[in-house]
Amino acid sequence: MIGKAMQDAMNEQINKELFSSYLYLSMAAYFEQKNLPGFAHWMRIQSDEEREHAMKFYDFILECGGGVHLKAIDAPRHEWSSVLEAAEEVAAHEAKVTASIHALYELAQKEKDYPAQVMLQWFVSEQVEEEKNAAELVANLKMIEERATAVLMLDHRLAKRKGE
Ligand SMILES: [Fe+2]
Ligand SMILES: [Fe+2]
Repeated sequence: MIGKAMQDAMNEQINKELFSSYLYLSMAAYFEQKNLPGFAHWMRIQSDEEREHAMKFYDFILECGGGVHLKAIDAPRHEWSSVLEAAEEVAAHEAKVTASIHALYELAQKEKDYPAQVMLQWFVSEQVEEEKNAAELVANLKMIEERATAVLMLDHRLAKRKGE
């Protein structure tokens, strides 16, 4: 039987995972509007995965004889100033989710809830992957930006050429 503290914390986590799903779905729509179907596709899959994460907690609570108590999901943003800004939000958001998964794990240790510890180990590894993917996306976008800046600097230099 799942303890009250763990049940409450996992219900909170369901909400966080569903918010993640909502946020990435909103980003998918933003990219679609920006004529970036590849980014939109990536975000759509990301959104589906977050819903699956929520369902893992949902199923676990029920398997352990607890109650699932769904809460209101906050509205995500629907506009970003650039692709890089959206990617940076993904990275920052995933870092927050990692912290909350680690807090759940600590609670499972404190409560001596061994099934929860085993279940949460999957999420600990998953977050390593999620943070890596987000960091890669940010790094790649920054590289593109740096190249654009380099081209502009070269343009500036070429503009200074004097006639013979
Ligand atoms: Fe997740
Ligand atoms: Fe995630």
